[in-house]
Amino acid sequence: MIGDLLPDFVVTEVAYDDPPEARLEPAEEAAVARAVDKRRREFTTVRHCARTALARLGVPYRPLVPGLRGAPSWPDGVVGSLTHCEGFRAAAVTRTGALASLGIDAEPALPLPEGVLESVALPVEQQRLAGLAAGRPDTPWDRILFSAKESVYKAWFPLTELWLDFHEAELDLSPDGTFTARLLVPGPVVAGRRLDGFDGRWAVRDGLLATAIAVRP
Ligand SMILES: CC(C)(COP(=O)(O)OP(=O)(O)OC[C@H]1O[C@@H](n2cnc3c(N)ncnc32)[C@H](O)[C@@H]1OP(=O)(O)O)[C@@H](O)C(=O)NCCC(=O)NCCS
Repeated sequence: MIGDLLPDFVVTEVAYDDPPEARLEPAEEAAVARAVDKRRREFTTVRHCARTALARLGVPYRPLVPGLRGAPSWPDGVVGSLTHCEGFRAAAVTRTGALASLGIDAEPALPLPEGVLESVALPVEQQRLAGLAAGRPDTPWDRILFSAKESVYKAWFPLTELWLDFHEAELDLSPDGTFTARLLVPGPVVAGRRLDGFDGRWAVRDGLLATAIAVRP
């Protein structure tokens, strides 16, 4: 599903369970030495996905240790993004010449827990969600919005190394499977041009929802 949301030249790998051959490099082991089993399994399998994706890209693997604010430390010349949730793990990678940044996120295709929407969505976004829900009540619009914001952050962070609050981007989801994110703070400069937002795509399938953003250089 994630692959369908990104340009063809982005290499994606997904896993729906935790393959026994998945393993960690020593530096990665150290990062999850005290983690609970669920975190450890997700962390390990998503790196297995990344290892396979990087091999397909022709890039030797190097430990993907969480760096500044948790962002993974991709090999030089690579942009990528990782996501994991119950029953799903995914990695997406490409060369820096092909994209300036990438963000992917997956979630269970279920409504957000009570009270979460109000803390992550602007009033105008909540109004738009009500309109979308009126047209397609079975679609978990609130969680698509949440996931799209996570993808925004994952695409934003490598370009800025700055925090971006949930209320600092205004998202507009379209029923056609696309979305736009308008930055309410100054955007990063990419190839000499200041970005005022991001364009992304979303999909819901087989109990999961996914969002993705590819920032062209
Ligand atoms: C970091 C964050 C986006 C991760 O999303 P999540 O749904 O909790 O978790 P996911 O499984 O989808 O993604 C986790 C992966 O995100 C990646 N990640 C973590 N921090 C990151 C960062 N600062 N930049 C880019 N990627 C990051 C990591 O690869 C991580 O996996 P790992 O720990 O195994 O390496 C989220 O926890 C967070 O902090 N959100 C607040 C910021 C935000 O979303 N702002 C909205 C702006 S509109």
